[in-house]
Amino acid sequence: MAATSGLTCGVLAAEAPLFYEGATDRGRFPVVHTERLSMARRKKIYEGKAKTLYEGPEPGTIVQYFKDDATAFNAAKHDVIEGKGVLNNILSEFFMLGLGQIGVPTHFLKRLNMREQLVRSCEIIPLEIIVRNYAAGSLSKRLGIDEGTQLPRPIVEYCYKDDALGDPLVTEEHIAAFGWASQQDMDDILSLALRVNDFLSGVMLAVGIRLIDFKIEIGRVYEGDFQRLVVADEISPDSCRLWDIKTGQKLDKDVFRRDLGSLTDAYSEVARRLGVMPNNPPAPGKPQLVN
Ligand SMILES: Nc1ncnc2c1ncn2[C@@H]1O[C@H](COP(=O)(O)OP(=O)(O)OP(=O)(O)O)[C@@H](O)[C@H]1O
Ligand SMILES: [Mg+2]
Repeated sequence: MAATSGLTCGVLAAEAPLFYEGATDRGRFPVVHTERLSMARRKKIYEGKAKTLYEGPEPGTIVQYFKDDATAFNAAKHDVIEGKGVLNNILSEFFMLGLGQIGVPTHFLKRLNMREQLVRSCEIIPLEIIVRNYAAGSLSKRLGIDEGTQLPRPIVEYCYKDDALGDPLVTEEHIAAFGWASQQDMDDILSLALRVNDFLSGVMLAVGIRLIDFKIEIGRVYEGDFQRLVVADEISPDSCRLWDIKTGQKLDKDVFRRDLGSLTDAYSEVARRLGVMPNNPPAPGKPQLVN
């Protein structure tokens, strides 16, 4: 999406009313008062491929609804995978909370229910920030490096967020020349990206998973005259490559991209190892017919 923050259309959501209990106490983040949002007052801001955004209960807040839709190859491949949204919601909460605990600012405020979380509304920098520890995917194709080859150091890449163009790889020259981010922003983005990488790599290593690569989005939030950058969007197996350390089994969206089995089973395994598997887990993948 090129213009997430052009928050406009007033389509009504076909979802049960939300109940925002309690207040958050996240320092400078807005306090969310107990409030019931009726269906009629709930305004859809944006419908993406994997999530829908609704206006939040307080100015400067947004509700992210995690859908079950899975897309790949710039939406050329699409399916609905029952339970994916629930797992991504819970996993993204887990990672964002963990980042907050080590002092990496994120947009996350609180999880509202199995599919929704309240986040701080940001102006999304139109870049996908990719950090790679091992070669895979487009890097392997572009440079002819076997998937799984350890890189000499983490490599950070930037893609311009524009679905119509297929999110093309860009350099810092493009970013500066077209004014997508300032030099200061780029320094901050690099530092955030590497901190997220160290955090995620460690968390995953502890549960026997290798973090091959991941993508994050960064948003600007304004506090008076100042802006600061926060990790936004989501962190989930949709946006990471995760391989079991012992077997090399893929536990991320490549399972869907490459038809490697049940995506729900793969994401459930990640949630289970991290100890955040929901009480009523999504139904397991479709049974396989054996003839
Ligand atoms: N805190 C936030 N404030 C504003 N916009 C956000 C925030 N977090 C994520 N977004 C935007 O919300 C959208 C989430 O929806 P989804 O991930 O389904 O989009 P998408 O189809 O992948 O499209 P896009 O190409 O924009 O990423 C994205 O456009 C993302 O940039
Ligand atoms: Mg997205």
